[in-house]
Order: sequence, then C-alpha cells, then structure tokens
Amino acid sequence: MKISRRNFTGLAGALALAGTFGLGGAAAAETIKIGIIGPFSGPFALQGKNFQAGVEAWLAQNGKSVAGNEIEIVYRDLPTANPQQARALAQELIVKDKVQYLGGVYFTPDALAITPLLKQGNVPLVIFNAATSAIMTSSPLVVRTSFTTGQTTTPLGKAAVDRGIKKFVSAVTDYGPGVDAEGAFKKAVEAAGGQVVETIRMPLNTTEFSPIMQRIRDAGAQGVFAFLPSGPPTLGFVKSFNDTGLKQAGVKLFATGDLTQESDLPALGEAAAGMITGFHYATSHDSEANRKFVEAGEKAIGGPGQLTFPAVGAYDGMYVIAKMIAATAGKQDAEKAVEAVKGLAWESPRGPVKIDPETRHITQTIYLREVAKDAKGNWINKEIQSFPEQKDPGLAK
Ligand code: PHB
Repeated sequence: MKISRRNFTGLAGALALAGTFGLGGAAAAETIKIGIIGPFSGPFALQGKNFQAGVEAWLAQNGKSVAGNEIEIVYRDLPTANPQQARALAQELIVKDKVQYLGGVYFTPDALAITPLLKQGNVPLVIFNAATSAIMTSSPLVVRTSFTTGQTTTPLGKAAVDRGIKKFVSAVTDYGPGVDAEGAFKKAVEAAGGQVVETIRMPLNTTEFSPIMQRIRDAGAQGVFAFLPSGPPTLGFVKSFNDTGLKQAGVKLFATGDLTQESDLPALGEAAAGMITGFHYATSHDSEANRKFVEAGEKAIGGPGQLTFPAVGAYDGMYVIAKMIAATAGKQDAEKAVEAVKGLAWESPRGPVKIDPETRHITQTIYLREVAKDAKGNWINKEIQSFPEQKDPGLAK
C-alpha cells in the first residue's frame, strides 16, 4: 500500500496512519507472500531449480513490488510425488505462513491433494507444471500456466502418421498425465488412419526399461509413442531405446517434449537425434521475449545448459499472480483474483498465450520439434511446425 502525501494534512496524521499499520516509516507497504511448492532436492531437483529460475527471472525483470505491494516468495521442497506431504506443506503455507497465493507443483497427484484446501484458505493455486487435464475441474481456484499432455500429444499423432508410420506402441507412465497422453495419442493416430497395437503403462518408479523395450520389439511396431515425467525417468527411457538397439532397428520414437528437455540433450546426443516431439516450449524458440527470458533464467540458475520448460511455466505463473495482486489491490480475495485473469492474454517466451476463461488452463501454440544440432553444434529442440491457439483437448466440452 502506498501512502501519498495528499492524503494527509501534516505530521500528526502521517504518524497516526503509520501507527495503524504498525510501521515506523511514513510510507507503508503490504508484504504479499507467495508459497511455491516444488522438487528442490532429490532426483527431480533440477525441475524445482527451474521453477525457482523462472520466478527469479520474472523478479529480476519486473522488480519485487507489484502495484505498490512488496512480494515475498516462500519455497517449500516436495522431492517426489507425495500427496500426503503436498497437502501438509500447502496447509502449513496457508495457515502458518499466511501466503496469499500458492504456485508451483510438479506432479499431478500433489496438485490434486492441494486443490481441496484452496476454497477454505481463500488462496488461488497457479500450477507451474502438473499436466493432467482433470486438475482444473477439481477447484475453481486453480489456474494453469504449463500444458497438458493431451495438448502436447494431439498434434503429434497426426504428424507421426503423416510420416508414413501406421503401427504404433504407446508406452506411458501409469498415472494421470500418462493416461491422458495415451488417450490423446490413440485418438489422434486413429483419426489419421493409424493404429496403436499395444498400450504399455509403466509404474512411476520404473528405472529399468529394457523389459519395456523388449515388449516394444515383440509388438513389431514401426513407431513408439512415449510419455514419462521429465527427469531421470525420461533420460533412462531414451537411453534404453537407443542402447537396446530399437533406434538402430529403424523404430521411430515420438514423444512429448518432456523426453527431450534441453538439460538432457548433451547426455543423450546421438541417442535422441531425429526424435520428433510435441511441446509448448523450447529454450531455442526464436523471439526477443524468449532471448531476454533465457538470459535472465540462465543467470538465475547459475549458467547455461540447465534451463528447461518448468522455468517458463513459473515465469508465466508469476505474470499471472502479479495480475491477480494488481486486480485485488493486494487484498486477499481468491475468487476475485482468479476472475481477473480469465481471458488474460500476453506474449510468453514460448509465444502468444491466453488463460482460457472457461477452463482456466493456458491456450498456446504447440510446436512439433526435432532433436537436431544448431549452427554452433549444440543439440536443440528445433521447431519444425506450429499449431497455434491450442486449448486443452482433454477439457473440451
Ligand atoms: C505431472 O505429474 O503432471 C507431470 C510431471 C512431469 C512432467 C509432466 C507432467 O514432465
């Protein structure tokens, strides 16, 4: 809150008001706390570090005050999918830390554990990653700035069939975003005249992928579609696809961009070369807004080679939270805050985006990309085709 001189007629009035707000100075500001939950340690720590880099990049570019209110970020570590812990952390942030906003959340089961707390806590949740369609229907106080696997997969199905491949195996992690991805791929492939001959669902804690590769080989498919949550599982899967000889045998691997996040590309190298993915963001996206974002993000994360998609979800999430703070003049009113961002459109580092007023999920361009080397010899997700204004097909009415 800003106190301007013309509201007062002298020192006595200014002191009285400063006393009311319990502050010593003549100018007072409310501090608004934003609680961010993510994997900041453990096997998925790089994904949490990317949340933080996105938040810090936004703060570096926009400052720590929104509409006259200071903002304070409170980070809470949730290393892996753990709904019970997610709920406890969110509860503590709401009740003890008195956050006005919640953000972050990498895994779907954690998001679903938090949404029942929002109404009573009068706190909106802006999801920076968790990508299952149904999360949006679990509370009217959720807004999402990431993607859904239905959104990233749908254009991929047709693109795969267009490349002359008709017979596919789908291999996904057996939970929300994997099940959504499998359904979206099957639907898109069948609509384009192809066929999914086998669907494989892998437990979330799978680390040994050679039996899966054997099943893919036995199915005799020409193409594979895969989704796993980005981090050690995706690196393991793509490596195994290569190491077990499937790539060499000419089987074509299609996936969501989760499998080729930029931080993994140097380690994958030739193993991922030529892979076609569907996704909302590549760090190599050619725009001025993205160059500025990458510069700020790399500075925040401590150098090149680590910045990847959760950072853009967080950066745009901060944009949305700032709009909510401005629309409520810093007051805690979750419903009004969410209402204010319905239909909000802006240019993200990923391209033009909009919060769909009906679903509160982000409408965006989905890109078809190919793992290739850039002019400097670095592996990138090279954008080869764009599908603009994609809503979440998983939430289509
Ligand atoms: C999710 O749990 O929703 C999730 C996690 C990691 C991803 C995508 C989706 O890369």
